Amino acid sequence: MKFICAKDYQEMSRKAASVIAAQVVLKPDSILGLATGSSPIGIYEQLVVWHRQGDLDFSQCSSFNLDEYRGLTADHDQSYHYFMHQHLFDAINIPAERIDLPDGAQMDAAAECARYDAAIAAAGGVDLQLLGMGLNGHIGFNEPDEVFSKGTHCVDLTTSTIEANKRFFASADDVPRQAYTMGVQTIMQARKILIIISGENKADIVREAFFGPITPQVPASILQLHPDVTVVADEAAFSKCRDLI
Ligand code: GLP
Repeated sequence: MKFICAKDYQEMSRKAASVIAAQVVLKPDSILGLATGSSPIGIYEQLVVWHRQGDLDFSQCSSFNLDEYRGLTADHDQSYHYFMHQHLFDAINIPAERIDLPDGAQMDAAAECARYDAAIAAAGGVDLQLLGMGLNGHIGFNEPDEVFSKGTHCVDLTTSTIEANKRFFASADDVPRQAYTMGVQTIMQARKILIIISGENKADIVREAFFGPITPQVPASILQLHPDVTVVADEAAFSKCRDLI
């Protein structure tokens, strides 16, 4: 794993955006795996700036997002569809037909998960997967579990995740209880992985995930086995592993 320490959120965002920009410049038809949450917002802002300056062209790129709440339609303002259009897609030139996310409005979970996995496979797999990490070490919506998950599946969100995500909804009761997410195996099949972490509240889980035992109780810990992972985090998030990086 390659560790890049940034002084703050802004620098983390710029460094991580550079990794994505390099990917797109070197392979204009890249298949990007994208993420939501507060962590990637600064990256998307930076990518939009570079695109507006004429330095970054997404016209040949395709994208797959990690996850989506089950039960939210694409036009719901807390859906991940909405988030991605608001923060990135509407401001760059990626063609609409090359954008895919799990469809939260599709209530037939088996059919939607099978469709999504088939679409990723048909595209040739993800070149660069961007990830954030939840407070309990979840990636996408792969929550701590007895085993590592495989393909796209429907999950019940943990209380910890519902609590963490309620800030985006009117109340915890409004947070959907389920989500569709790429599985851990899908994520591990990406050719490159870029994970970003910001803030002191994630310092303990950063140490556990990247320097602790590999266990499905800390889903991000499996990234230790991937051959091409870049971890970009700010000093606060790295504050409990200064002796290790
Ligand atoms: C959500 C998303 C994850 C994200 C996590 C952390 O649960 N499904 O993909 O990594 O939140 O979000 P944040 O970056 O806001 O801390």
